[in-house]
Amino acid sequence: MRVLVTGAGGRLGRMVLPRLRGEGWTVRATSRRARTDPSVEWVVVDLATGEGLAEAVADVDAVLHLASSPNRGRQTHRVDVLGTRRLVVAAGQAGVRHLVYVSIVGVDRVPIPYYRHKLAAEQVVAAGPVPWTVLRATQFPEFLDDMLRGASRLGPVLGDPAVLAQPVDPAEVAERLVRRLTAGPLHGIEEYGGPEVLRYDAAVRAWNAARRSRRPLLPVRIPGKLGRALRSGGLVTEATPTGARTWADHLVDTYGGTAAR
Ligand SMILES: NC(=O)c1ccc[n+]([C@@H]2O[C@H](COP(=O)([O-])OP(=O)(O)OC[C@H]3O[C@@H](n4cnc5c(N)ncnc54)[C@H](OP(=O)(O)O)[C@@H]3O)[C@@H](O)[C@H]2O)c1
Repeated sequence: MRVLVTGAGGRLGRMVLPRLRGEGWTVRATSRRARTDPSVEWVVVDLATGEGLAEAVADVDAVLHLASSPNRGRQTHRVDVLGTRRLVVAAGQAGVRHLVYVSIVGVDRVPIPYYRHKLAAEQVVAAGPVPWTVLRATQFPEFLDDMLRGASRLGPVLGDPAVLAQPVDPAEVAERLVRRLTAGPLHGIEEYGGPEVLRYDAAVRAWNAARRSRRPLLPVRIPGKLGRALRSGGLVTEATPTGARTWADHLVDTYGGTAAR
């Protein structure tokens, strides 16, 4: 069985590739630039233009669609929505039997522009000719970590203390995706989150402790519908099973108790 993985060189893609090979899949992987790797067949595909797409989907049984261009306005629309449509159409013409799309928990209720595009892409997948599965994951801890770095550039850590998050390890998401791919089309949406729901202030406390930092949290209440959605659990899921690796596990692995102030 051959699977095409889009965005295979990204954070999630790098975790998915060895797991697919381990399950016996022959992997074709896409990137916008030429790459070499003896264990994977790399092909050049640009979803914004459709370059390389017809060749990429030829002779594959399944597609695992991870590619995305977050938070880039019109380019996000071009890649995530129109690019997903191009992919779905090409896969349908090539007779692909299962397309798995990775999305994000909350795309249907948290008013963030990127999420609007992800939701539209889900709808393109569901309306398309290829039997499908959508896996919505919660945020990766690396994303939360990067966000906290950004939020503390000026000294204190800015943020709304009551926002809820449920970080999930991308390696566990990769495993779930491979399992879903192998199980065949769900014709539906599954959610997958981390093992614990954390308030932003608790996440910041643990982050500071791991980094031996005393940066105070400067509370900034996020206004309006967005704030309400984030505080009321728009980014979290009650779905089970969940991943097992916690925010604390990520912090130990990343900072190991030795990070500088
Ligand atoms: N990060 C999170 O917290 C999170 C949580 C839940 C779900 N997700 C979803 O998981 C997926 C993967 O996330 P990630 O963190 O692994 O993202 P990532 O590291 O940014 O990887 C995304 C990949 O998309 C590819 N890409 C970008 N523009 C493209 C274009 N025009 N044509 C073809 N490919 C293009 C890039 O590949 P090249 O540069 O090699 O072309 C890039 O490696 C995304 O769909 C994201 O929405 C992420």
